[in-house]
Amino acid sequence: MKIVEQIKQPIAYEMDLFEQKFQLSMSSKVALLNRITTYIVNRKGKQMRPMFVFLVAKMVNNGEISERTYRGASVIELIHTATLVHDDVVDDSNRRRGFFSVNALWKNKIAVLIGDFLLSKGLLLSIDNNDFDLLKIISVAVREMSEGELLQIEKARRLDITEAVYYEIIRQKTATLIAACCSLGAASVKPNSSEVETMRKFGELIGMAFQIKDDLFDYGEDAIGKPTGIDIKEQKMTLPLIHVLNKCDKKDKKWLINSIKNHNKDKKRVKEVINFVKDNGGLDYAIAKMKEFQIEALTLLETYPESEFKSSLKLMVNYVIDRKK
Ligand code: IPE
Ligand code: IPE
Ligand code: MG
Ligand code: MG
Repeated sequence: MKIVEQIKQPIAYEMDLFEQKFQLSMSSKVALLNRITTYIVNRKGKQMRPMFVFLVAKMVNNGEISERTYRGASVIELIHTATLVHDDVVDDSNRRRGFFSVNALWKNKIAVLIGDFLLSKGLLLSIDNNDFDLLKIISVAVREMSEGELLQIEKARRLDITEAVYYEIIRQKTATLIAACCSLGAASVKPNSSEVETMRKFGELIGMAFQIKDDLFDYGEDAIGKPTGIDIKEQKMTLPLIHVLNKCDKKDKKWLINSIKNHNKDKKRVKEVINFVKDNGGLDYAIAKMKEFQIEALTLLETYPESEFKSSLKLMVNYVIDRKK
């Protein structure tokens, strides 16, 4: 059995029902909107975030979940989708999930509005059902994601990012949403329990590993459904490059910074930078850091009694690191 199917086994019923509910949650009376949201749901992603919501909820509550859990999962996936639509505008990227991005097909104007629509649909799904405790978790994540994206742009302009700032960026832009999945999963069935915070931390650690993995993909050439090699073009400095910049000599550092600052659109030069980072242990370093976050996350799980849900969560943590897309 494939690893993803194995992970999904204890939540197969919930994931099926989730898909129906998720699709309905996007509906609108505007024909153009429906055309685009249909395009989006037909090219679904890995759906890791709803999987985290269901697995955590079931783990902390002996397999029992509620409608709140389903709504929470839908809200998170709506917001995740909204941020991807916006992210491809921000990053000027024309591919997503193996197909054209929304901005590539319908242009930036429409992509911005679609992202706003999906965000508002998500927030309203919580509000209309009085899930205010879940809405709070989600709203904090949305705020942090925006701050993280802006911090990243600020640092890309100045090219002075440190390893600590990199962690802060990825914590905000990616890890907070995965943290929200896990804390919301717990809060949907056991509001006010100490598990809400433990699971938030668990999700945050996985989220850190998740984004380091995503940044490693950019250094490869595998088909992952979105462009690779675009981070340097966008002057986005990620962990492999930051590490190499910190340890190389002055002359190399000058060459690297000059390449990123003044030759970032030159394909040959970007390739040289990528190779330099590889040859100087940048990828190995990032992989080691990613594994540190993985181990910390797995340690947090140890306090929970064995169950099929916990086993799936463990597999999920490892999948974040071993995934091929
Ligand atoms: C992509 O997330 C955005 C990042 C935080 C790196 P996913 O890789 O989970 O995207 P989909 O939903 O599977 O396409
Ligand atoms: C992650 O940013 C997406 C968000 C947190 C909004 P990236 O720009 O690094 O992700 P990909 O690689 O485009 O999915
Ligand atoms: Mg981005
Ligand atoms: Mg991007």
